[in-house]
Amino acid sequence: VRDGNGVKGIVDSGLLEVPERYIQPLHEQINKLDSRTHDVPPIDLSKLNGPEHDRVVDQIVSAAETLGFFQVVNHGMPVKLLESLKDAAHSFFTLPPEKKALYLTGLSPSPLIKYGTSFVPEKEKALEWKDYISMVYSNDEDALQYWPNQCKEVALEYLKLASKLVRDLVKILMGNLGVKLDESKIDGLLGMRMVNMNYYPACPNPDLTVGVGRHSDMGAITVLLQDGIGGLYVKVEEENDDTKGEWLEIPPIHGALVINIGDTLQILSNGKYKSAEHRVRTTNTQSRVSVPVFTLPNPTEVIVPLPEVVKKDGLARYREVIFQDYMKNFFGNAHAGKKSLDFAT
Ligand code: SIN
Ligand code: FE2
Repeated sequence: VRDGNGVKGIVDSGLLEVPERYIQPLHEQINKLDSRTHDVPPIDLSKLNGPEHDRVVDQIVSAAETLGFFQVVNHGMPVKLLESLKDAAHSFFTLPPEKKALYLTGLSPSPLIKYGTSFVPEKEKALEWKDYISMVYSNDEDALQYWPNQCKEVALEYLKLASKLVRDLVKILMGNLGVKLDESKIDGLLGMRMVNMNYYPACPNPDLTVGVGRHSDMGAITVLLQDGIGGLYVKVEEENDDTKGEWLEIPPIHGALVINIGDTLQILSNGKYKSAEHRVRTTNTQSRVSVPVFTLPNPTEVIVPLPEVVKKDGLARYREVIFQDYMKNFFGNAHAGKKSLDFAT
Protein backbone atom coordinates (compact mmCIF):
# COMPACT_ATOMS: atom_id res chain seq x y z
CA VAL A 1 0.00 0.00 0.00
CA ARG A 2 3.13 2.17 -0.03
CA ASP A 3 1.84 4.03 -3.09
CA GLY A 4 -1.49 4.56 -1.38
CA ASN A 5 -3.46 2.45 -3.76
CA GLY A 6 -3.43 -1.03 -2.24
CA VAL A 7 -4.78 -3.97 -4.18
CA LYS A 8 -6.83 -1.59 -6.27
CA GLY A 9 -3.60 -0.04 -7.46
CA ILE A 10 -2.31 -3.41 -8.60
CA VAL A 11 -5.52 -4.12 -10.47
CA ASP A 12 -5.60 -0.64 -12.04
CA SER A 13 -2.08 -1.15 -13.33
CA GLY A 14 -3.59 -3.70 -15.71
CA LEU A 15 -2.52 -6.92 -14.10
CA LEU A 16 -3.67 -10.16 -15.71
CA GLU A 17 -2.38 -12.66 -13.18
CA VAL A 18 -2.56 -12.75 -9.41
CA PRO A 19 0.84 -11.81 -7.90
CA GLU A 20 2.51 -14.61 -5.95
CA ARG A 21 2.05 -12.99 -2.55
CA TYR A 22 -1.74 -13.07 -2.90
CA ILE A 23 -1.97 -16.75 -3.80
CA GLN A 24 -3.50 -18.69 -0.92
CA PRO A 25 -2.32 -22.17 0.03
CA LEU A 26 -4.64 -24.79 -1.48
CA HIS A 27 -6.50 -25.52 1.74
CA GLU A 28 -7.48 -21.86 2.10
CA GLN A 29 -8.77 -21.42 -1.44
CA ILE A 30 -12.54 -21.10 -1.46
CA ASN A 31 -14.23 -23.77 -3.49
CA LYS A 32 -17.70 -22.55 -4.26
CA LEU A 33 -18.93 -26.09 -4.75
CA ASP A 34 -18.85 -27.20 -1.13
CA SER A 35 -21.11 -24.48 0.17
CA ARG A 36 -24.76 -23.61 -0.03
CA THR A 37 -26.80 -20.52 0.65
CA HIS A 38 -28.00 -19.74 4.15
CA ASP A 39 -31.66 -19.45 3.27
CA VAL A 40 -33.10 -18.51 6.66
CA PRO A 41 -35.26 -15.40 6.18
CA PRO A 42 -34.08 -12.18 7.82
CA ILE A 43 -35.48 -11.40 11.27
CA ASP A 44 -38.02 -8.57 11.31
CA LEU A 45 -36.98 -6.40 14.23
CA SER A 46 -40.06 -4.16 14.04
CA LYS A 47 -42.01 -7.12 15.44
CA LEU A 48 -40.18 -6.72 18.75
CA ASN A 49 -42.70 -3.97 19.43
CA GLY A 50 -45.80 -6.11 18.99
CA PRO A 51 -47.51 -9.35 19.91
CA GLU A 52 -44.76 -11.41 18.22
CA HIS A 53 -42.08 -10.06 20.55
CA ASP A 54 -41.27 -13.41 22.17
CA ARG A 55 -41.05 -15.23 18.87
CA VAL A 56 -38.59 -12.68 17.51
CA VAL A 57 -36.50 -12.93 20.68
CA ASP A 58 -36.40 -16.71 20.15
CA GLN A 59 -35.23 -16.24 16.57
CA ILE A 60 -32.41 -13.95 17.68
CA VAL A 61 -31.35 -16.22 20.53
CA SER A 62 -31.41 -19.37 18.48
CA ALA A 63 -29.39 -17.76 15.66
CA ALA A 64 -26.81 -16.58 18.21
CA GLU A 65 -26.63 -20.05 19.75
CA THR A 66 -26.21 -21.91 16.48
CA LEU A 67 -24.64 -20.15 13.49
CA GLY A 68 -23.72 -16.90 15.24
CA PHE A 69 -24.85 -15.04 12.11
CA PHE A 70 -28.24 -13.71 11.07
CA GLN A 71 -29.77 -10.97 8.98
CA VAL A 72 -32.24 -8.33 10.13
CA VAL A 73 -34.73 -6.04 8.41
CA ASN A 74 -36.75 -3.14 9.82
CA HIS A 75 -33.69 -2.47 11.95
CA GLY A 76 -34.28 1.26 12.29
CA MET A 77 -31.87 2.31 9.58
CA PRO A 78 -33.26 4.00 6.50
CA VAL A 79 -32.49 1.94 3.41
CA LYS A 80 -31.44 5.21 1.78
CA LEU A 81 -28.66 5.58 4.35
CA LEU A 82 -27.43 2.08 3.49
CA GLU A 83 -27.39 2.94 -0.19
CA SER A 84 -25.47 6.15 0.51
CA LEU A 85 -22.90 4.21 2.52
CA LYS A 86 -22.13 1.87 -0.35
CA ASP A 87 -21.81 4.87 -2.68
CA ALA A 88 -19.55 6.59 -0.14
CA ALA A 89 -17.31 3.51 0.02
CA HIS A 90 -16.94 3.50 -3.76
CA SER A 91 -16.24 7.25 -3.77
CA PHE A 92 -13.47 6.86 -1.23
CA PHE A 93 -11.71 3.93 -2.86
CA THR A 94 -11.87 5.42 -6.34
CA LEU A 95 -10.07 8.55 -5.13
CA PRO A 96 -6.64 9.14 -6.66
CA PRO A 97 -3.96 7.18 -4.75
CA GLU A 98 -2.39 10.31 -3.26
CA LYS A 99 -5.70 11.25 -1.61
CA LYS A 100 -6.06 7.83 0.01
CA ALA A 101 -2.41 7.83 1.04
CA LEU A 102 -3.24 10.73 3.39
CA TYR A 103 -4.77 8.13 5.72
CA LEU A 104 -1.85 5.70 5.78
CA THR A 105 -0.31 5.03 9.19
CA GLY A 106 2.09 7.83 10.00
CA LEU A 107 0.39 10.27 7.63
CA SER A 108 -3.17 10.04 8.87
CA PRO A 109 -4.49 13.20 10.58
CA SER A 110 -5.56 11.01 13.52
CA PRO A 111 -4.21 7.73 14.92
CA LEU A 112 -7.85 6.59 15.01
CA ILE A 113 -8.12 6.53 11.21
CA LYS A 114 -6.22 4.07 9.14
CA TYR A 115 -6.19 3.20 5.47
CA GLY A 116 -4.57 -0.12 4.71
CA THR A 117 -4.58 -3.33 2.78
CA SER A 118 -4.94 -6.99 3.81
CA PHE A 119 -5.17 -7.63 7.60
CA VAL A 120 -1.73 -7.90 9.18
CA PRO A 121 0.49 -7.94 6.06
CA GLU A 122 3.71 -8.44 8.04
CA LYS A 123 2.32 -11.66 9.56
CA GLU A 124 0.50 -13.13 6.59
CA LYS A 125 1.86 -15.92 4.42
CA ALA A 126 -0.56 -14.86 1.68
CA LEU A 127 -2.12 -11.41 1.57
CA GLU A 128 -5.85 -10.79 1.51
CA TRP A 129 -7.33 -9.23 -1.64
CA LYS A 130 -8.77 -6.25 0.19
CA ASP A 131 -8.25 -2.55 0.89
CA TYR A 132 -9.94 -0.83 3.80
CA ILE A 133 -10.27 2.31 5.83
CA SER A 134 -10.93 2.00 9.52
CA MET A 135 -12.35 4.80 11.66
CA VAL A 136 -12.50 4.50 15.45
CA TYR A 137 -15.14 6.74 17.01
CA SER A 138 -14.11 9.13 19.77
CA ASN A 139 -16.58 12.01 19.45
CA ASP A 140 -18.68 13.71 16.77
CA GLU A 141 -16.39 16.70 16.31
CA ASP A 142 -13.33 14.59 15.65
CA ALA A 143 -15.25 12.33 13.29
CA LEU A 144 -16.54 15.27 11.28
CA GLN A 145 -13.14 16.91 11.27
CA TYR A 146 -10.92 13.93 10.44
CA TRP A 147 -12.92 11.23 8.70
CA PRO A 148 -12.76 11.42 4.88
CA ASN A 149 -15.24 13.86 3.30
CA GLN A 150 -16.52 11.11 1.01
CA CYS A 151 -18.08 9.23 3.91
CA LYS A 152 -17.97 11.09 7.22
CA GLU A 153 -21.62 12.11 7.61
CA VAL A 154 -23.14 8.82 6.53
CA ALA A 155 -20.56 6.73 8.37
CA LEU A 156 -21.19 8.63 11.58
CA GLU A 157 -24.95 8.29 11.34
CA TYR A 158 -24.59 4.59 10.54
CA LEU A 159 -22.25 4.03 13.48
CA LYS A 160 -24.72 5.63 15.87
CA LEU A 161 -27.73 3.68 14.65
CA ALA A 162 -25.70 0.48 14.63
CA SER A 163 -24.62 1.11 18.23
CA LYS A 164 -28.23 1.40 19.30
CA LEU A 165 -29.10 -1.79 17.48
CA VAL A 166 -26.22 -3.66 19.10
CA ARG A 167 -27.21 -2.45 22.55
CA ASP A 168 -30.77 -3.72 22.05
CA LEU A 169 -29.50 -7.09 20.81
CA VAL A 170 -27.06 -7.45 23.71
CA LYS A 171 -29.86 -6.79 26.19
CA ILE A 172 -32.01 -9.46 24.54
CA LEU A 173 -29.15 -11.98 24.54
CA MET A 174 -28.21 -11.24 28.15
CA GLY A 175 -31.86 -11.42 29.21
CA ASN A 176 -32.05 -14.90 27.75
CA LEU A 177 -29.11 -15.94 29.96
CA GLY A 178 -30.94 -14.60 32.98
CA VAL A 179 -28.41 -11.79 33.31
CA LYS A 180 -29.31 -8.17 33.86
CA LEU A 181 -26.26 -5.98 33.32
CA ASP A 182 -26.45 -2.42 34.59
CA GLU A 183 -26.15 0.33 32.01
CA SER A 184 -22.61 1.27 33.03
CA LYS A 185 -21.45 -2.33 32.58
CA ILE A 186 -23.02 -2.37 29.11
CA ASP A 187 -21.28 0.96 28.39
CA GLY A 188 -17.96 -0.69 29.20
CA LEU A 189 -18.63 -3.81 27.16
CA LEU A 190 -19.73 -1.80 24.12
CA GLY A 191 -17.49 1.20 24.70
CA MET A 192 -15.25 1.04 21.66
CA ARG A 193 -16.84 1.54 18.27
CA MET A 194 -15.30 1.44 14.88
CA VAL A 195 -16.64 1.69 11.37
CA ASN A 196 -14.68 0.18 8.47
CA MET A 197 -15.18 0.43 4.77
CA ASN A 198 -13.87 -2.58 2.90
CA TYR A 199 -13.10 -2.67 -0.80
CA TYR A 200 -12.48 -5.93 -2.63
CA PRO A 201 -11.32 -5.12 -6.16
CA ALA A 202 -12.32 -7.46 -8.97
CA CYS A 203 -9.70 -10.20 -9.07
CA PRO A 204 -8.32 -11.81 -12.26
CA ASN A 205 -8.38 -15.25 -10.61
CA PRO A 206 -10.75 -15.47 -7.64
CA ASP A 207 -10.04 -19.18 -7.16
CA LEU A 208 -6.54 -18.41 -5.91
CA THR A 209 -7.25 -15.54 -3.53
CA VAL A 210 -9.42 -14.64 -0.55
CA GLY A 211 -11.03 -11.28 0.19
CA VAL A 212 -10.75 -12.01 3.88
CA GLY A 213 -9.33 -15.19 5.36
CA ARG A 214 -11.09 -17.37 7.96
CA HIS A 215 -11.56 -15.52 11.23
CA SER A 216 -14.00 -14.67 13.95
CA ASP A 217 -14.56 -11.07 15.09
CA MET A 218 -13.13 -10.14 18.48
CA GLY A 219 -15.77 -7.73 19.73
CA ALA A 220 -19.29 -8.16 21.10
CA ILE A 221 -21.42 -7.86 17.98
CA THR A 222 -20.66 -6.74 14.42
CA VAL A 223 -23.24 -5.05 12.21
CA LEU A 224 -22.37 -5.47 8.56
CA LEU A 225 -23.70 -3.90 5.41
CA GLN A 226 -22.79 -5.82 2.28
CA ASP A 227 -23.56 -4.86 -1.29
CA GLY A 228 -25.29 -7.08 -3.85
CA ILE A 229 -22.23 -8.99 -5.07
CA GLY A 230 -22.11 -11.75 -2.46
CA GLY A 231 -19.18 -13.80 -1.23
CA LEU A 232 -19.52 -13.80 2.56
CA TYR A 233 -19.31 -17.34 3.95
CA VAL A 234 -19.93 -18.58 7.48
CA LYS A 235 -18.89 -21.89 8.94
CA VAL A 236 -21.37 -24.22 10.58
CA GLU A 237 -19.49 -25.55 13.57
CA GLU A 238 -19.20 -29.25 14.11
CA GLU A 239 -19.27 -30.18 17.75
CA ASN A 240 -15.71 -30.81 18.99
CA ASP A 241 -14.16 -30.73 15.55
CA ASP A 242 -12.52 -27.59 14.23
CA THR A 243 -11.34 -29.13 11.01
CA LYS A 244 -14.82 -30.08 9.78
CA GLY A 245 -17.89 -28.04 9.05
CA GLU A 246 -19.96 -26.78 6.21
CA TRP A 247 -19.78 -23.25 4.78
CA LEU A 248 -22.92 -21.24 4.17
CA GLU A 249 -23.03 -18.15 2.00
CA ILE A 250 -24.87 -15.23 3.58
CA PRO A 251 -26.87 -13.95 0.61
CA PRO A 252 -27.12 -10.22 -0.05
CA ILE A 253 -30.63 -9.00 0.82
CA HIS A 254 -31.51 -5.48 -0.21
CA GLY A 255 -32.16 -3.32 2.85
CA ALA A 256 -31.02 -5.97 5.32
CA LEU A 257 -28.07 -5.89 7.71
CA VAL A 258 -25.93 -8.84 8.69
CA ILE A 259 -25.39 -9.35 12.42
CA ASN A 260 -22.65 -11.52 13.81
CA ILE A 261 -21.62 -12.52 17.29
CA GLY A 262 -17.98 -11.89 18.23
CA ASP A 263 -15.51 -13.57 20.59
CA THR A 264 -16.44 -11.23 23.46
CA LEU A 265 -20.00 -12.55 23.60
CA GLN A 266 -18.83 -16.13 23.22
CA ILE A 267 -16.59 -15.67 26.26
CA LEU A 268 -19.19 -13.79 28.35
CA SER A 269 -21.83 -16.44 27.60
CA ASN A 270 -19.36 -19.23 28.45
CA GLY A 271 -19.65 -20.55 24.91
CA LYS A 272 -23.43 -20.44 24.59
CA TYR A 273 -23.35 -17.77 21.88
CA LYS A 274 -21.19 -18.61 18.88
CA SER A 275 -18.60 -16.27 17.45
CA ALA A 276 -18.85 -17.52 13.93
CA GLU A 277 -15.89 -18.26 11.73
CA HIS A 278 -16.31 -16.47 8.42
CA ARG A 279 -14.45 -15.45 5.28
CA VAL A 280 -14.94 -13.58 2.04
CA ARG A 281 -14.45 -14.75 -1.51
CA THR A 282 -13.30 -12.50 -4.36
CA THR A 283 -14.95 -12.20 -7.76
CA ASN A 284 -13.56 -11.39 -11.18
CA THR A 285 -16.44 -9.31 -12.40
CA GLN A 286 -17.02 -6.39 -10.05
CA SER A 287 -15.47 -4.83 -7.00
CA ARG A 288 -17.37 -5.51 -3.77
CA VAL A 289 -17.80 -3.15 -0.83
CA SER A 290 -18.88 -3.90 2.72
CA VAL A 291 -19.26 -1.62 5.73
CA PRO A 292 -18.99 -3.20 9.18
CA VAL A 293 -19.47 -1.49 12.52
CA PHE A 294 -17.52 -3.26 15.26
CA THR A 295 -18.67 -2.87 18.83
CA LEU A 296 -15.91 -3.78 21.24
CA PRO A 297 -15.28 -3.55 24.98
CA ASN A 298 -13.22 -0.67 26.33
CA PRO A 299 -9.51 -1.59 26.43
CA THR A 300 -9.43 -1.85 30.22
CA GLU A 301 -12.58 -3.98 30.46
CA VAL A 302 -12.16 -7.41 32.03
CA ILE A 303 -13.77 -10.11 29.89
CA VAL A 304 -14.77 -13.27 31.71
CA PRO A 305 -17.68 -15.73 31.57
CA LEU A 306 -20.63 -14.26 33.45
CA PRO A 307 -20.94 -15.71 36.97
CA GLU A 308 -24.65 -16.51 36.50
CA VAL A 309 -23.83 -18.70 33.50
CA VAL A 310 -20.78 -20.33 35.07
CA LYS A 311 -22.88 -21.26 38.06
CA LYS A 312 -25.42 -22.98 35.84
CA ASP A 313 -22.73 -24.69 33.71
CA GLY A 314 -20.61 -25.77 36.66
CA LEU A 315 -17.38 -24.54 35.04
CA ALA A 316 -15.85 -21.54 33.28
CA ARG A 317 -14.74 -22.40 29.75
CA TYR A 318 -12.62 -19.27 29.41
CA ARG A 319 -10.13 -17.47 31.57
CA GLU A 320 -10.26 -13.82 32.50
CA VAL A 321 -8.68 -11.47 29.95
CA ILE A 322 -8.23 -7.72 29.79
CA PHE A 323 -9.64 -6.63 26.49
CA GLN A 324 -6.57 -4.65 25.40
CA ASP A 325 -4.46 -7.82 25.74
CA TYR A 326 -7.01 -9.75 23.72
CA MET A 327 -6.94 -7.06 21.05
CA LYS A 328 -3.16 -6.96 20.94
CA ASN A 329 -3.08 -10.70 20.36
CA PHE A 330 -5.78 -10.42 17.69
CA PHE A 331 -3.93 -7.75 15.72
CA GLY A 332 -0.60 -9.47 16.28
CA ASN A 333 -1.52 -12.52 14.20
CA ALA A 334 -2.79 -13.31 10.74
CA HIS A 335 -6.39 -14.48 10.41
CA ALA A 336 -6.52 -18.14 11.45
CA GLY A 337 -10.09 -19.28 11.99
CA LYS A 338 -11.14 -19.20 15.63
CA LYS A 339 -7.55 -19.23 16.92
CA SER A 340 -8.07 -15.82 18.49
CA LEU A 341 -10.20 -17.48 21.17
CA ASP A 342 -7.24 -19.61 22.27
CA PHE A 343 -5.95 -16.51 24.01
CA ALA A 344 -8.81 -16.80 26.48
CA THR A 345 -8.63 -20.56 27.01
C1 SIN B 1 -15.04 -9.30 7.51
O1 SIN B 1 -15.64 -10.12 8.17
O2 SIN B 1 -13.89 -8.96 7.84
C2 SIN B 1 -15.63 -8.69 6.27
C3 SIN B 1 -16.99 -9.21 5.91
C4 SIN B 1 -17.46 -8.77 4.57
O3 SIN B 1 -16.80 -8.03 3.85
O4 SIN B 1 -18.57 -9.19 4.18
FE1 FE2 C 1 -15.26 -10.38 10.27
